[in-house]
Amino acid sequence: MITTVLVTNDSDFEDQVKRVSDGEAEAARWWDDRLPRMEPAAAAREITQGDPAVVVIGPGLATAASLALAEELDLHFPGACVVLVAKATGRLWEQALRAGIREIIPTGSDDPTVLAALTRIWATAARRQMAAPVAPPAPRGRVIVVISPKGGAGKTTVSTNLAAGLAGAAPGRVAIVDLDLQFGDVASALGIGPQSTMADAARAEGKLDSTAIKVFLEPHPSGLYALVGPHFPAEADEVSPETAGHVVDILAAEFSFVVVDTAAGLDEHALAAVERADDLVLVCVTDVPSVRALRKALDALDLLGMTKAHRHLVLNRSDDKVGLSVADVEATVGVNVSASVPTSRSLQISVNQGSPVVLADPRSPAGRALRDLANRFVGEPAAGAATGRPRRFARKDNA
Ligand SMILES: Nc1ncnc2c1ncn2[C@@H]1O[C@H](COP(=O)(O)OP(=O)(O)OP(=O)(O)O)[C@@H](O)[C@H]1O
Ligand SMILES: [Mg+2]
Repeated sequence: MITTVLVTNDSDFEDQVKRVSDGEAEAARWWDDRLPRMEPAAAAREITQGDPAVVVIGPGLATAASLALAEELDLHFPGACVVLVAKATGRLWEQALRAGIREIIPTGSDDPTVLAALTRIWATAARRQMAAPVAPPAPRGRVIVVISPKGGAGKTTVSTNLAAGLAGAAPGRVAIVDLDLQFGDVASALGIGPQSTMADAARAEGKLDSTAIKVFLEPHPSGLYALVGPHFPAEADEVSPETAGHVVDILAAEFSFVVVDTAAGLDEHALAAVERADDLVLVCVTDVPSVRALRKALDALDLLGMTKAHRHLVLNRSDDKVGLSVADVEATVGVNVSASVPTSRSLQISVNQGSPVVLADPRSPAGRALRDLANRFVGEPAAGAATGRPRRFARKDNA
């Protein structure tokens, strides 16, 4: 509906407009007896309070005052198309054009003439509304997906430490999701005894939105929130890849960082996350099968066109002397190493105690490497259009 303001004291003209528009436009009359003496700026402000698409000036206002008002509208309220009702002379057309007036309706016009002029102006207003810039999409958090084709390479170690490290820089704005739906151990690595899991979230599918998801998130003292894997492997079937993707989307709308832990390989749930990823953290250890498998996984992602995300390579157990150098790994995988995490006793202890090494022993070589990895994501722009807007998630009510 095109909102139209008729600046006139002539109620017959108002009736005529309403009659000819036949309910097509929302026309309202505005008049103030002080208008002929009002400052054009003040009058324009009053007239445009409802943000009208069309302003029809007259009949009833002197030509000079009408032109001054039109000029003011043109300057400060360019969203409104202005029409003048006046005796249309060649000279008036000239002045009207300069004042940004798009139509002149001759005073005393019959219904068809008024309708024709208004139809033209309403069409122009409608075109303008359609061409108006659409609001930019809401900023989205950065989605970081941790993958490794081989089991036991250190995905959960890396993802939980990455999330805890990020939470140090952005407390309350980091979520971790466990998409290792059968044997996920994010909960145990973080030492949290969760009440709710991905399976519970999946059961709420349909009603799952940014408010509902809070119920399933477990707060961790480091300042991150975890949506952990199901309690029982059989429950994995209840979580569809679509739900997994939906969960990642909801969390990305609420948190600045969403870290996703995955099962070994590239199952459909992992792919749903990879589709949404700004960053992929590839974890491998320094043995040939692990490195080769990673290369194959990347080839598969390339084939699927999943190339948007930044790829970061984490070399776990980097100091294991097994004959492969960093350069060998980089050459095979085709990605430079972003972090080398040595085999570490304190890391092993921290996992067993349910406390990420970046918190339990941040000065240890493994703790430092993982902290540095987290810091790479803080302040660094994401790969896709998504950006990590600082957002704080309201703490979950434990009621
Ligand atoms: N750098 C390291 N030093 C010592 N122990 C490590 C290191 N990295 C991982 N581990 C240990 O190796 C085991 C496997 O690590 P983790 O669970 O992180 O691997 P994963 O890739 O998630 O395994 P899965 O495929 O089963 O999910 C854990 O017990 C972990 O404590
Ligand atoms: Mg794991």
